[in-house]
Amino acid sequence: MSTPRVCVVGSGGREHALCLALARSSDVVAAPGNPGIEGHVPHGGRITTTAASPEEVEADLYVVGPEGPLVDGLADRLRARGRRVVGPGSDGARLEGSKAFMKEVLIAARVPTARYGAFTRIDDARAFLRELPGPWVVKTDGLASGKGVTVATTLAEADADVAAKLSGAFGDAGRRVVVEEGLSGPECSLLVLCDGRNVVPLPPARDFKRVDDGDVGPNTGGMGSYAPLPGLADADVDDLVERAVAPLVHELRRRGIDYRGVLYAGLMLTPDGARVLEFNVRFGDPEAQVVLPLLSEDPLDVFFAVADGRLARVVPGGRIAGPRGAAVCVVMAAEGYPGPLRTGDVIRGLGSDGQLTDRVAGVSVLHAGTRRVREDGPFLTSGGRVLGVTATAADLAEARRRAYAGVERITWPGAQWRSDVARLDAEQCARTDAACLSISWEVAS
Ligand code: AMP
Ligand code: GLY
Repeated sequence: MSTPRVCVVGSGGREHALCLALARSSDVVAAPGNPGIEGHVPHGGRITTTAASPEEVEADLYVVGPEGPLVDGLADRLRARGRRVVGPGSDGARLEGSKAFMKEVLIAARVPTARYGAFTRIDDARAFLRELPGPWVVKTDGLASGKGVTVATTLAEADADVAAKLSGAFGDAGRRVVVEEGLSGPECSLLVLCDGRNVVPLPPARDFKRVDDGDVGPNTGGMGSYAPLPGLADADVDDLVERAVAPLVHELRRRGIDYRGVLYAGLMLTPDGARVLEFNVRFGDPEAQVVLPLLSEDPLDVFFAVADGRLARVVPGGRIAGPRGAAVCVVMAAEGYPGPLRTGDVIRGLGSDGQLTDRVAGVSVLHAGTRRVREDGPFLTSGGRVLGVTATAADLAEARRRAYAGVERITWPGAQWRSDVARLDAEQCARTDAACLSISWEVAS
């Protein structure tokens, strides 16, 4: 059989990670990709980029990275032409496109989640806020790149946030808000592959959402990640899938939605059991950067199985081999992120392939917001999250050390990153052993 051709849709660090994972056995074309993706082709594979729309690209499989095109029906249009796609149609993507819809489906499926109300009027939202004990969470209903969520510790702050969102600060995405009870506990990003009926979990990951060390400052798209989570054994992951994901897939089927793609459960492991904060309809970014390199097998066959509804046959035990060691990703962002940005700075420390000039074992630099003026020119910053410095190693402490060794070799004016990605779990693992338990929690609700 000739080498399969896979089209990866999107241009960020997640798509860079997808291209690398798939280039082991495929010809990969990223649409549109970014200059760091094109320059970086290990394993002797082939990765190209194209400015053409994904619908104009001929490929055997399409893997859609971001939520926007899924919500807009890209997967439907590709499937209508007989193409094989990893990514839900617009019916399934509505889970992420509307938080109010997602909450409604979660409640119908009896998936444990925070108490909530959805409102278009400021007064109604404020009245509901007063029924909750606090802290209070206010979310835009529609897509806001991970920046539409506010966790307020005072009613005054929550009131002000409701007013700001409903008065148009987020455009259409904010015409309706979801107000929720604030929960607390460690978070977990559980990504599963779904073929419409069966689900296969990937190694559980943690994302660092707040911009500053110690989990303070505004929410971002994600400032770093690591996987697997030392506190979650395979049996715990199976339990979470059973309680949080399988009922959702069942409810989607009941509504006639044949969901083929990635389901990403954002979970909070509260003292009262795990709660779903949200479902996303795609790989997490930067979770993909740490989950994909841990798979000991090439994901291509499994992705084809997702697209074809054949997961039960291709992954009979319901679990992909791995995880292999641990991975840590530290996101380097432009000055100002997640607010108004400074961009256009020359990034020092990268060679013409976009990787470290002074290599560190196990480290890949995954590009997100970079551009090049000339093909052989330097990489410039062009977005909020600029790079994800990702390391794999036999254990978490070493993966973390490698990732930060990589970060130290890269500079540009105003670059910012968190210095505490994976710190607590890595310290704990170094003190005990690989089987250390860092989180105490139970799944029962
Ligand atoms: P979401 O986009 O809904 O995942 O929210 C982004 C982040 O906001 C989550 O990862 C949490 O850190 C925080 N968050 C969302 N919902 C809640 C909640 N009900 N209680 C506490 N924190 C929350
Ligand atoms: N890292 C969070 C997200 O991808 O939504």
